[in-house]
Amino acid sequence: MIDTHAHLYAEEFDSDREEVLMNAIECGITKILLPNIDETTIERLHQLSNSSDVCVPMMGLHPCYVSSDYKTQLEIIKRQFEKHKYVAVGEIGIDLYWDKSTQDIQKLAFLEQCRWAREFGLPIAIHSRDSTSLIIDLLKSNELENVGGVFHCFGGTIEEAKEVVDMGFSLGIGGVLTFKNTTLREVLQHVSLDHIVIETDAPYLAPTPYRGKRNEPAYVIKVAEQLSYVYDLPLEHIIQRTTDNALTLFEL
Ligand code: NI
Repeated sequence: MIDTHAHLYAEEFDSDREEVLMNAIECGITKILLPNIDETTIERLHQLSNSSDVCVPMMGLHPCYVSSDYKTQLEIIKRQFEKHKYVAVGEIGIDLYWDKSTQDIQKLAFLEQCRWAREFGLPIAIHSRDSTSLIIDLLKSNELENVGGVFHCFGGTIEEAKEVVDMGFSLGIGGVLTFKNTTLREVLQHVSLDHIVIETDAPYLAPTPYRGKRNEPAYVIKVAEQLSYVYDLPLEHIIQRTTDNALTLFEL
């Protein structure tokens, strides 16, 4: 299995990162993709990806950390691409749940990073909280819809899911799929497994039965199990297909 989105370099893992990593490997995880947050997380992210073949870095500025100094942040982050190899530009996007006041600069930062992705030939890992349709519109109106990538932690409607797939993007599915009150199971009835990758978003969004606790890459099996139920396919089949999807999408 490949956990396509985990902040394993986060402080939450400082006391037992090695153990968490070993646990993930024992559970059959072969790659863990690390999305960046902002300037302050770059060094930790590189340290971890340099020390483990399993951990693979992305680079980008997270929408919740887009503030008045975002141009400086973007300059620092773009320079990283000259020195390091990444599998995606991420995580980037728009978050209207935590802060609507920065919407305009979030859009600018997102579009600029999408253009980098095109320049570098990399997919994007999108954070789209309360903004799925806005992001779809932005990509289309800026002729960026074919840049490719994943809507991480997809939380949109059936219609939005169809549009995302039509643009050639994948849906990142995580712990939310295991929650009792989610509409995601119904949405997935309309999405082929060919467009699904699995993720944890560790340390956040732990799946049932760990909901509310610290999430970790090993728990991605709970997402695969739930997909097995949703698609009515054997677990082995789900694991193989979602792994193949991730290998192709991120050219791992
Ligand atoms: Ni994230």
